[in-house]
Amino acid sequence: MTVLNVIVFLFSIPLCLAASSVTSDTSGVTPVVPVQPTIPPSPPTASPEANVTRIFKYPGGGFENLAVRSNGQILATLAFPEPLLFYVDPLSIRPAVLLHNFTSLRNTGGITELAPDRFYGHGPGLNNGPYSVYSVDMRQILVLPNGTIFTPPVIKEIGTIPSALLLNGMTHLCSSDNFVLISDTLLGGVWKFYVDTGKSELVIQDPSMSGPPNQTAFAAFGINGLRVQNNTLFYCNSGAQKFYKMPLHVDGSSASNATLITSGIACDDFALDKWGFAYVASPRNALIRLDTRTGAQLVVAGTFADSSSDIISASSARFGKGDSDRTSIYITTNGGAFAGAPPGSQGISRVDVGDVAQLFGRDGQYLRGGKA
Ligand SMILES: *[C@@H]1O[C@H](CO)[C@@H](O)[C@H](O)[C@H]1NC(C)=O
Ligand SMILES: *[C@@H]1O[C@H](CO)[C@@H](O)[C@H](O)[C@H]1NC(C)=O
Ligand SMILES: *[C@@H]1O[C@H](CO)[C@@H](O)[C@H](O)[C@H]1NC(C)=O
Ligand SMILES: *[C@@H]1O[C@H](CO)[C@@H](O)[C@H](O)[C@H]1NC(C)=O
Ligand SMILES: *[C@@H]1O[C@H](CO)[C@@H](O)[C@H](O)[C@H]1NC(C)=O
Ligand SMILES: *[C@@H]1O[C@H](CO)[C@@H](O)[C@H](O)[C@H]1NC(C)=O
Repeated sequence: MTVLNVIVFLFSIPLCLAASSVTSDTSGVTPVVPVQPTIPPSPPTASPEANVTRIFKYPGGGFENLAVRSNGQILATLAFPEPLLFYVDPLSIRPAVLLHNFTSLRNTGGITELAPDRFYGHGPGLNNGPYSVYSVDMRQILVLPNGTIFTPPVIKEIGTIPSALLLNGMTHLCSSDNFVLISDTLLGGVWKFYVDTGKSELVIQDPSMSGPPNQTAFAAFGINGLRVQNNTLFYCNSGAQKFYKMPLHVDGSSASNATLITSGIACDDFALDKWGFAYVASPRNALIRLDTRTGAQLVVAGTFADSSSDIISASSARFGKGDSDRTSIYITTNGGAFAGAPPGSQGISRVDVGDVAQLFGRDGQYLRGGKA
């Protein structure tokens, strides 16, 4: 195991000490509308860039989010056109499986694994019905090598959030908690949803989470992807193109004011590593590595604001959890909620950031080669 492997592995250990180094899952919802804010300038590009491999293609699918089981298998959701949940083998040994079709929802949005194999997600109800939060219990699932589902997961809708406007990313603090946190992009806040009772409360509402005033569609979006590490909430404000952090109490409420990490970032959801880097899925067709301590951005894969990119409209990012892929990041792509995406580019890609990450060393210092 390399040092990087050990460190990436450590962040999945489900301990929740007050100042521990725990990273939890997160998620973020992608815009479905073609209105967009001004494109920020492209960050510099890593040299060499990380290699990208498409592991699942599903033409027309607006992939929205993903979560990775402890055995490395991937659950992936769709923002459009259908409310589907896929189960994808990162090594493509078993064919990808359509795990569930949520016929009472319009789409499937953020997803997070609270306790081992206990996943939670959300989606808006049909006919403008309220958002539902659903649970996916993967403990008994059995999928045959040919992709046939022998024992399906147990899936339940466990409650609604009637006052939610546009639910987006989902995350949690601690695997022993009875609640998840969900960003509300239009309310400019974070919902706390109790998975045992189905009750909810708007636990944070903050100006840093609001979208820019007098905008429409994506440009009006506020908080999008969110993730908790070390009892600190990291989040991206998509419309404002800003990235923040905010300390939390263990009950999910804010412990202090937000700190701006950077402005001018085209961001959706992201994965955090142990060193304080956020790997940000950018709707501008790239995976951006953001140093959350300095705000420096670096494109590690894809081509910024270019539809010839091999990551068309990235929507979410998660580290792998298998033996072979702990320095890889899986990215969902929706193929262009923004205009101009080639059809067939939608799905999940693997980005091998191991080499690129090592270029920068554990303290972010540049170590060898390249023009970063
Ligand atoms: C976690 O937070 C504590 C308290 O704020 C801080 O001392 C520590 O350096 C942080 N650890 C990491 C890995 O950021
Ligand atoms: C990309 O893959 C090639 C072929 O396997 C390998 O030689 C190269 O080192 C990889 N690049 C990076 C940045 O990992
Ligand atoms: C999902 O369910 C809807 C409603 O029954 C159906 O129209 C659609 O074809 C299903 N999608 C898939 C991929 O099975
Ligand atoms: C998958 O394998 C099972 C068990 O061998 C078999 O019963 C089933 O018909 C197969 N399904 C397909 C689609 O080949
Ligand atoms: C937003 O629009 C309202 C109503 O049109 C106007 O009163 C307000 O000044 C505008 N705010 C900004 C920041 O442009
Ligand atoms: C938070 O910001 C408000 C308004 O700027 C300020 O009055 C307050 O002191 C700040 N709180 C902390 C803990 O920094």
